[in-house]
Amino acid sequence: MLKLAPSILSADFTRLGEQVRTVEEAGAEYLHLDIMDGHFVPNLTFGPQVVSALRKNSGMIFDVHLMIENPELYIDSFIDAGADLVTVHAEATPHLHRSIQQIKGRGVKAGVALNPSSHPSAIRYLLDMLDLVLVMTVNPGFGGQDFIAGMLPKIKEIREMAEAAGSGAEIQVDGGVSVKTAPLLAAAGATVLVAGSAVFGAPDPGAAVREIRQALESGIGNWG
Ligand code: DX5
Ligand code: ZN
Repeated sequence: MLKLAPSILSADFTRLGEQVRTVEEAGAEYLHLDIMDGHFVPNLTFGPQVVSALRKNSGMIFDVHLMIENPELYIDSFIDAGADLVTVHAEATPHLHRSIQQIKGRGVKAGVALNPSSHPSAIRYLLDMLDLVLVMTVNPGFGGQDFIAGMLPKIKEIREMAEAAGSGAEIQVDGGVSVKTAPLLAAAGATVLVAGSAVFGAPDPGAAVREIRQALESGIGNWG
């Protein structure tokens, strides 16, 4: 079954614990934690302290999406804070293989994220080490942006590349996921969908999780 990963980027930070509990109770499997450094992307978010605080009250898979330069300097702090999965951007370090080794060496799952302009070949020789490939369907940095439809064939290409390589890596999609786009992303080969504004921008985030799940079950996308 396709897994859902609400992103707290669009949550109400004055009651973050409660918001996380709501999506966990609604059955979302992953909690997507967007870490931004103001250099790799033009925005700043939060650090390991917030991850560690949330960890105390949640059993979800903590999915840390590092949108930061020199990720090797911070990987260990986020794992210490409770990350189950750490994803680094292919473009954020010249030593991507080493960063993946660092994550795997700590016994947690590792992912690589690709910006919309990045070629799938960036992960071709890493696939045997990866637990997840994150395909960005917006330019990273902000929630609530428009979905880039041109990424649908890229998702399909990466899914096929992973299968041909015998990789069981999850294919995660991040950016503009909604009840409208989710069925199209599932059809293209996504296995984990990140949703920020579609979940936490809704009046009831738990209901929003259930509505995305229903849209996936119906298989009907009405985007476009
Ligand atoms: C964007 C982040 C996303 C963001 C998605 O840089 O990586 O995880 O929260 O937001 P939506 O779902 O609103 O496009
Ligand atoms: Zn993200």
